[in-house]
Amino acid sequence: MELENKFRENTNFKSDLNIYQKEEKLKNDVLNTLRKNTYHWQPLSYTDQLGLVYLAARFDGGFAAVSRALQEIYQRVPDFNPQTLMDFGSGVGSVSWAAHGIWGNKLKEYMCIDSSSSMNTLSELVLRGGSDKGEMHISGIHFRQFLPVSPKVQFDLVVSAYSLNELPNFAEREKIIQTLWRKTGGFLVLVENGTREGYQLLMEARDIVLKGGDKEVWDHRPAYVFAPCPHQLECPKLAGRLPLPCNFMQKYQPLRFSWNPSVAWEKFSYMIFSRGPVGDNDSQWPRVIGPVLCRPRHVHCKMCCSDGKLHHDIITAKRHGKDLYRCARNSEWGDRLPAMISSSCPDKTQFDEKESSS
Ligand SMILES: C[S@@+](CC[C@H](N)C(=O)[O-])C[C@H]1O[C@@H](n2cnc3c(N)ncnc32)[C@H](O)[C@@H]1O
Repeated sequence: MELENKFRENTNFKSDLNIYQKEEKLKNDVLNTLRKNTYHWQPLSYTDQLGLVYLAARFDGGFAAVSRALQEIYQRVPDFNPQTLMDFGSGVGSVSWAAHGIWGNKLKEYMCIDSSSSMNTLSELVLRGGSDKGEMHISGIHFRQFLPVSPKVQFDLVVSAYSLNELPNFAEREKIIQTLWRKTGGFLVLVENGTREGYQLLMEARDIVLKGGDKEVWDHRPAYVFAPCPHQLECPKLAGRLPLPCNFMQKYQPLRFSWNPSVAWEKFSYMIFSRGPVGDNDSQWPRVIGPVLCRPRHVHCKMCCSDGKLHHDIITAKRHGKDLYRCARNSEWGDRLPAMISSSCPDKTQFDEKESSS
């Protein structure tokens, strides 16, 4: 007792205890609030019914976004003629339809991987025009429930659309992404929702692919970011105070249901990796990463540039020449400007943080 009294006299015991109790209380409050508000991730089970709902609600928007991402390869690398495609988390088949719409019969083999047998059955039914006995609209499509892992068989094109967010944790995503890259002979295309979460998944995938931690390396050609970034550096959108997603908008005609509008927009994010560098100097052309604002005799363009920085340029015919000015006026969010714009300087404000943040 005497010892304890001495201890109390000679230390800030009481105030320390107070602080300690306050901190403990704060910690408990924070943990309780987190427990109440944190979303408890549950895997979605794609049953027959949920498959139909997905087909009605998401097939069209997903198809539009994947088509736009694949167009990027088609336009920039016209010599790329993929014969084989692997689609991870193929669902109701929007990737196969989009790829077939672009490369047609050049594509000979489609490997659709989906853990849900209901999704595979529905996807096949759609390909047969809604009748079990109908002819397949696209030939060469195979369905599997498990992702093959051997590095020896590669596919010219590997795609995962809106499927990374279905995976339960980082370890699983890392394993799947490494396998997808291992199976990539030409391009790996990842598409996700254009939200912070979707973009975060793509940034994570980018780190995994570029870091190259796979133990089963067969193909030693390195990974390059082909699109949308015009550089191989850190994403400047993540450097701001509030990390923003890099997203794009694609206009599309929704499926003809009475409740659908005639036109809709899909907000999506994507990332395309190539085996080795592809294309010439044009890989450094700036990417327009927001709405292009056309004003009298000048155009506002927000771009991500080859220096790995965000630029806000005001393009005029006088300063940049008539060709580039016209080009900028006709550009849209997501396009690349066919020029290296030398007069611009990095945007210190990192753009309006409210924009494209949803
Ligand atoms: C949101 S849907 C996307 C479907 C399609 N890619 C699209 O864009 O329309 C995700 C699909 O991934 C599948 N999936 C989830 N985890 C999987 C896994 N570990 N292996 C294979 N497929 C998986 C689900 O069954 C589901 O069909």
